[in-house]
Amino acid sequence: MIDWLLPLVPLVKAVHIVGLCLWCGGLVALPFMLARHDPVVSQDDFHRIRKATHFTYTLCVTPAAVVAVIAGAWLIFMRETFQPWFYAKLFFVMLLVGAHAWTGHMLVRVGETKGRFQPRAPYLPLLAVLVPVIGILVFVLGKPDLSWIQFPSVLLEPMGRSLPFDVPRL
Ligand code: HEM
Repeated sequence: MIDWLLPLVPLVKAVHIVGLCLWCGGLVALPFMLARHDPVVSQDDFHRIRKATHFTYTLCVTPAAVVAVIAGAWLIFMRETFQPWFYAKLFFVMLLVGAHAWTGHMLVRVGETKGRFQPRAPYLPLLAVLVPVIGILVFVLGKPDLSWIQFPSVLLEPMGRSLPFDVPRL
């Protein structure tokens, strides 16, 4: 790794962790907030709950996800995590991104569906978030030895190829 980047690892990791705390915390909170969209509450209350849910998703959870993913992408190259456990982690990250998209889809349906749309009970969306989060934490913190699984060598070793365009030298 480039030497001057080394001292930045704790900083980038901190940004990654703050980002993912907001991301995952928001994804846990949102199913409960969505469940409060009860058609029997007054128009004013419904409006307030809908606004809070919308802003939580668009101004907090989604930007936090982008920050966590960008910082995570930097960490791949700073920490050279070309290991099987890391690809297992990425599989669970993909599930988490799916849960994020599903939450957004429910949010749109609550806001845009004509008539009444009662979001589902929070348990299934909550499970869809907690399973990937636990999976990610098991792999990233435990870093289990998965060398018994056959991964394509392109994922584990540098291929020594150059990019098809010029990049500035650091
Ligand atoms: C595309 C998304 C992500 C990428 C590319 C990514 C990548 C990385 C990388 C490369 C590291 C450094 C590992 C090391 O130093 O050994 C890391 C650390 C970490 N990641 Fe992620 N990550 C992503 C999403 C997440 C998510 C969603 C979570 C939690 C739910 C998470 C939890 C953590 C934790 C707790 C660490 C610190 C591990 C340690 O220092 O031992 N990451 N991540």
